[in-house]
Order: sequence, then C-alpha cells, then structure tokens
Amino acid sequence: MSTPEQDILVHQEQGVTTITFNRVSKKNSLTATMYAQLADALETAARDAAVRVVVFQGDVAVFSAGNDIGDFLKNPPAGRDAPVFRFLRQIATFPKPLLAAVCGPAVGVGTTMLFHCDLVYAGDNAAFSMPFVNLGLCPEAGSSLLVPQMLGYHRAAEALLLGEPFMAEAALEVGLVNRVVPPTECNMVAQMQARKLAAKSLASLIETKRLLKKSNADELLARIDEEATSFGRMLGEPAAKEAFTAFLEKRAPDFSRL
Ligand code: COA
Repeated sequence: MSTPEQDILVHQEQGVTTITFNRVSKKNSLTATMYAQLADALETAARDAAVRVVVFQGDVAVFSAGNDIGDFLKNPPAGRDAPVFRFLRQIATFPKPLLAAVCGPAVGVGTTMLFHCDLVYAGDNAAFSMPFVNLGLCPEAGSSLLVPQMLGYHRAAEALLLGEPFMAEAALEVGLVNRVVPPTECNMVAQMQARKLAAKSLASLIETKRLLKKSNADELLARIDEEATSFGRMLGEPAAKEAFTAFLEKRAPDFSRL
C-alpha cells in the first residue's frame, strides 16, 4: 500500500510531466490531500518552461474511482479554495497539452477530468461513469456544460441522469477518447504521443490550445463555480448522506423517502 505522499506520483522527463494515480488499494479514489498534490503538480508544470506536456495515468486495472467517499464525508470541501476546486480550476485552465491514459473504471471526476484533457487514450477495459445523481449530488468539473457539447443533449442526459457506465468503444464513438488500445499498451501509447508533442514549439502548443478552448473559456469557469456551489450544498443534504453511508455499508441506497 502507498503512503499518502505516494498516492500521487509526479515524474518529469524530456519535457513530459507524468502524474500517476497510485492508490490502487482504494481504486485510486481521490482524497483532499491528493487533490492538493494534483493542483500543486499542475501549477508547477504550468510555470516550468521545461515542461511542455502533462500526462495523467492510473493503473492497468483502474484509472480512478473518483472522490474518496469516506474522505468527502470527513472533510467536505469548504469553499472555492478547497483542494478539489483548486484542482478543477487548474485542469480547466491548464495552458499546455494534457493527455490521459485510462484503463478500467473512471468514475465521477475520473471521467469528468477527461473532458479537460486534449488527448485521451483508453484501454479496451475502460469504463466511464458519472454517477453523481446516484450519490444524491449534481455534476461537477464543468461536466454539465462539456458533456452535452461533446455527446449531444440526450446522450449527456443519459450519462448524467442515469449515471450508468459506458465502455471504451462507446467513448471512442462519441469522441471522448482518441484511440482504444490493449490496457497493457495504454500508458506507452500516451507517452509516445506526449513525446511527439514535447518535440514541438511550446509557444505554438500553448497558442493553439488557447484558441481551441477560447469559445468556452469564461462560461466554463462560471459553470465550474456554479456546480461547486450546488455540489457543496448537496453534500450536506440527506440524499448524499444516505448514498455515502450506503456505499460504506456496502448496500444499495434508499432514496424512496427523500
Ligand atoms: N471512495 C472510497 N473508497 C473507495 C472508492 C471511493 N470512491 N471506490 C472504491 N473504494 C474502496 C472500496 O471501499 C474498497 O475498500 P475496502 O477494500 O477497504 O473494502 C476498495 O476500494 C476496493 O473497491 P471495490 O468496490 O471492492 O472494487 P471493485 O473492483 O468491486 O469496484 C469500482 C470498483 C470503482 C467500480 C467501485 O469501487 C465503485 O463503484 N466505487 C465507487 C465509485 C463512486 O461512486 N465514486 C464517487 C464518484 S463522485
């Protein structure tokens, strides 16, 4: 098992910063400490002229189970400077190319963070889901804006209202991933693409990404804030409490009286 300091690994080589989710025993679910480490790593990578590209990766069997539910109960994010919201703003405004290599489950923020990545490679075992409603919550990370833009309204409503997983091939079809590969090759493929990008002009990469993202930029940050306000309020409400308690007690939630 990793120590909290090792739950997020950051490695820099040849212009590429690789950020690895390394809490496999808890399915790479993300604690407030991990969000702070992620936000710090992105802040450093944005500033450091030696870094041209950032790659997120998990394990061959799991990308991330999203927010750590126990940690969320113990340390609910307090205000817009909470580590989770710092991370979301960093990833939404990160100026250089962001890549992700996704194998196995990518739950909640494990999926919504991908809408901020520029290139996404998936193992054929990848399963994407945004089960916020099943947890008595609402979308986060700007997903209420970005998911309908990418998937179209009805597929977005299905993904966000039902919260059921969709597999790598479906993600490829809607454009959420660039390529589906065998899980054991996924990190390598992402690294190969990152190396190609790292050989290009940093100024060109930054300007191209800025222009690509320009039409959404202001609305996206406003939406992330609006979602965060609702999400924070809903975390304290009975439906989320029931869903989180049910998860920790390994039973299905009962929303019938809520
Ligand atoms: N928060 C806290 N702990 C989590 C977690 C999460 N989001 N996801 C998994 N874990 C823990 C489990 O409690 C379990 O811990 P234990 O061994 O101490 O009992 C361990 O990780 C293994 O999880 P398990 O559910 O047994 O693995 P699985 O392979 O059967 O299923 C998932 C993997 C990701 C599909 C499943 O764990 C899951 O659905 N997790 C919750 C996802 C979620 O709702 N995230 C919140 C989004 S906002």
